[in-house]
Amino acid sequence: MEAFVIEGGAVLSGKVQVHGAKNAALPILAASLLVRGEIELVDVPDLLDIRVMIDILTALGVEVEREGHTLYVNTDPLETNIVPEHLMSQMRSSIFLLGPLVSRTGEAVLSYPGGCSIGNRPIDMHINSLRKMGVTIHEYGGTLVAEAARLRGAHIVLDFPSVGTTENILMAAAFAEGKTIITNAAREPEIQDLARFLTAIGARIQGAGTHRIMIEGVPRPTHVRVTHRVMPDRIVAGTFVAASAMTGGDILICGAALEHMEAVIEAFQKSGTDISHDQGGLRVKGKRPIRALHKVMTSPHPGFPTDMQAQLMAHLALAEGTSVMVETVFDGRFRHVPELIKMGADIVVDYHTAVIRGVSRLNGARVKATDLRAGAALVLAGLAAHGTTTVMAPHHIDRGYEKLEESLASIGARITRERVASTLHGAT
Ligand code: EPZ
Repeated sequence: MEAFVIEGGAVLSGKVQVHGAKNAALPILAASLLVRGEIELVDVPDLLDIRVMIDILTALGVEVEREGHTLYVNTDPLETNIVPEHLMSQMRSSIFLLGPLVSRTGEAVLSYPGGCSIGNRPIDMHINSLRKMGVTIHEYGGTLVAEAARLRGAHIVLDFPSVGTTENILMAAAFAEGKTIITNAAREPEIQDLARFLTAIGARIQGAGTHRIMIEGVPRPTHVRVTHRVMPDRIVAGTFVAASAMTGGDILICGAALEHMEAVIEAFQKSGTDISHDQGGLRVKGKRPIRALHKVMTSPHPGFPTDMQAQLMAHLALAEGTSVMVETVFDGRFRHVPELIKMGADIVVDYHTAVIRGVSRLNGARVKATDLRAGAALVLAGLAAHGTTTVMAPHHIDRGYEKLEESLASIGARITRERVASTLHGAT
């Protein structure tokens, strides 16, 4: 079985480049289905989730070529609106296909989305929102059939600023009849990147990045030829911040959009990490002692991102003092805790709250990645631990990080991807 094997204790130093954002590229790839044309997407990372999305587009008849980090998408030959179940089940983001497919073809047949195991991940808000726009959606034993002769604009008030739901509405509304207003919209930077792409293919959108977005439905262009550069991945950048903070390193993170990372930078600075702007990038120097943080709550952007919760917790496991972290976005997003405890962390979880009592050292252990950010947190803990850490199931990490082991090794980490026995006792 594959694993990351990490010799702890290396002090990171050097320059590392941040790749394009998975959570921007995925909805933009889905949005490409809205129109006929040639679409060039620049800085698309080569990740498992992106490969699944490309497989889905290809299964629908769309042509996708990859040259390095650039994708060339030709959406003219779209042949079907039935998404293969074996692909839908691999990734939650496939729910983004609902809006574009119904908009382009009048129908979509999807199965319930899969994705990483971070608690209950319903799609009720997606379904209710599209129903308000005139889509009839029926569910037959796990298969969703959505139909709309014509999508119409609506005023949609979201109970929660759901990222995916906001994105699905944006895509469905672009070429719908009339105006759509989203109240309590998600404000994540990835929403703004999707809006930039939709504008490039002809949509008329105001307010992306704020709680209130207005989309003026316009006639669908007959053919487009656009190029779009995907924004940098703020969570990958934040993970590198944590790597330097935890190892007492001194690294320069290039390519990150600093304005997307204010809450993450603030949290690490409060815990004693020296972070400054340097050469257009982020200079991160880890300092000791790491200071505990009295209370960190994850919340929708611009609050502290849930996708950085596990990584910050690994950092605070080595703090002087006790920290409290509250996960308000997802239930079940503490699956990294038992694995960190195996490495000597002192953490107690009560429902959505984790109490982290800092310890002086973590010890290498054999641990298991359960989802992409939990897995990243275990890699970080391994970098700082004494001895050898084996992180099993690195494919979870590969969903969100392109060659993470190579990026970390390039700044001094002792990490390799190896084949190991599936159990401690050597069974293969
Ligand atoms: C997006 O997921 C991201 N994924 C997630 O990143 C990220 O954690 C999340 O936004 C929050 O920022 C992509 O962009 C591909 P939500 P999404 O809809 O859209 C509930 C990663 O690590 N909800 O904002 O699924 C939901 O259960 C991934 O890269 C409903 O109840 O997130 C959750 O509790 C993990 N009904 C909350 O809203 C719905 O119909 C936030 O979900 C939809 C969501």
